[in-house]
Parts: sequence; structure tokens; C-alpha cells
Amino acid sequence: MSCMLSGKNIPRHIAIIMDGNGRWAARKGLPRYYGHNRGVETVRRIISACLDLGIKHLTLYTFSTENWRRPKQEVDAIMKAMEESIDRYADEFVGQAKVRVRFIGRWRELPKNLAEKMQDITIRTKDFNNLNLTFAINYGGRQEILDALTEVIARNIKVLDEESFRGYLYAPDIPDPDLLIRTAGEFRVSNFLLWQIAYSEIYTTKILWPDFKKQHLVKAIKSYQKRRRKFGAL
Ligand code: IPE
Ligand code: IPE
Ligand code: MG
Repeated sequence: MSCMLSGKNIPRHIAIIMDGNGRWAARKGLPRYYGHNRGVETVRRIISACLDLGIKHLTLYTFSTENWRRPKQEVDAIMKAMEESIDRYADEFVGQAKVRVRFIGRWRELPKNLAEKMQDITIRTKDFNNLNLTFAINYGGRQEILDALTEVIARNIKVLDEESFRGYLYAPDIPDPDLLIRTAGEFRVSNFLLWQIAYSEIYTTKILWPDFKKQHLVKAIKSYQKRRRKFGAL
């Protein structure tokens, strides 16, 4: 499968539900955290691929508000993998690739060490724009809508429309995803970007996240490029 892509109709924003780390490890007879560590390497690879392909926005579903239901040992391993990857990749983003990194979700509620690192990289990269990279961490789409409404009520706002409501979401300036990819063969949204995916094109693949490569991303984009988006019109 060729990695060549037509420059026409490149999605401006790709959002990915990175699923299948646990199954990848289980198939190899390894503990689940191996899968998460491999998943981090895929994240690195897909960021590079997006830079190569000229994608402007990439949003990665990293940890959901429901993922706290997992055993503490696994949650701790995921937190550790996130912290280590910030340590490992922060300077590379800042110094070379000029990627703007930010986080959406109730990430300020995470362990203090981790939240501080997230805050720090957000500030250090805020003027970059080669790629707008957003990690959804302790993120839930319903919670995002509730957090927005809570703000609306606090400000005593009585009239809303779509555009003004959007202003209260976590990252209002990011355009809605054109393409939503889910790996590992599941056909569900799992509380991801509920407001923003209203008209996103959906692509699912059986490939497990640790095995997901640039060629698979290109395949998803090619599928997107063949579609006709109608937004309710004819
Ligand atoms: C996705 O992989 C990563 C997170 C949800 C944190 P999973 O851990 O959900 O992997 P599976 O679905 O069990 O294979
Ligand atoms: C969605 O994957 C959350 C992330 C990828 C972070 P899950 O594995 O948690 O979703 P379900 O439980 O299969 O719906
Ligand atoms: Mg899963």
C-alpha cells in the first residue's frame, strides 16, 4: 500500500480513538501495560506522519473519564506512560517539530506532577503551529458539555446559539474533526467529542493501536477523500 496521497482534500482535523493496546499485549501473552507502552510509540509515529502529510490538527483520545473504572494497577501504568512520554518527547516537540501541544478534559484533576508537566508543555508550545496536537485526557464528551453549561449558568447567560455555545467548550478554536478514526475493530464513540463529531466522517480498522502505522493512516485518509460530505444538503 502506497504512502502517496493526493494533496487535494486533505482532512484539516483528524481525531483518533486509540484502541486495542490491551488486546495487542494479550495476544502476545504480555501484561496489558506493555500494550500501553507500545501505544506511546505509535503516538510518536503518527505525529510524524501527520507532520509529513500536512495535517493541521490531530486529537488523540488518551484516557477517558470512564477509564478510571479499570484496576488501579492499570490506571497507574497509563499515568506513568503519559508522564514518561512528556519527559521523553517534550524537547523534541518544542525544539524541532514546532508542534503545539494541548490537553482537553478534566486533566487538571490528575496527579499533581503530571498535571504540572502538562501545563508546562502547553505554555512552552503555545506559539507553534506546524501541527496542533491535542490529547484528550480524563476526557468525556458529556462532561465537556456539562462543564460548558456550568460556565454558561455561572455567567447568567440566557441566550445561546451553536457558535456561542462552542465558545464554552474546552478548545473552541479547533475546527470540528473531518475524519474520526477508531482502531481495534470497535464501532462506537465511547464518549469522545460528542458535540464536535456531529458531521465527522468515521473510519474504523481492525488494526490494533500498537500496530497502526503511517500506511494505515494514509489508507484512512484515502477513504475519506473518496467520500462526499453533504451536511444535510443535497
Ligand atoms: C486503549 O487501549 C487505551 C486506553 C483506553 C487507555 P485499551 O486499553 O482499551 O485496549 P483494549 O481495548 O483492552 O484492547
Ligand atoms: C476509548 O477506549 C477510550 C480511549 C481510547 C482513551 P475504551 O477501550 O475505553 O472504550 P470502550 O470501553 O471499549 O468503549
Ligand atoms: Mg479498549
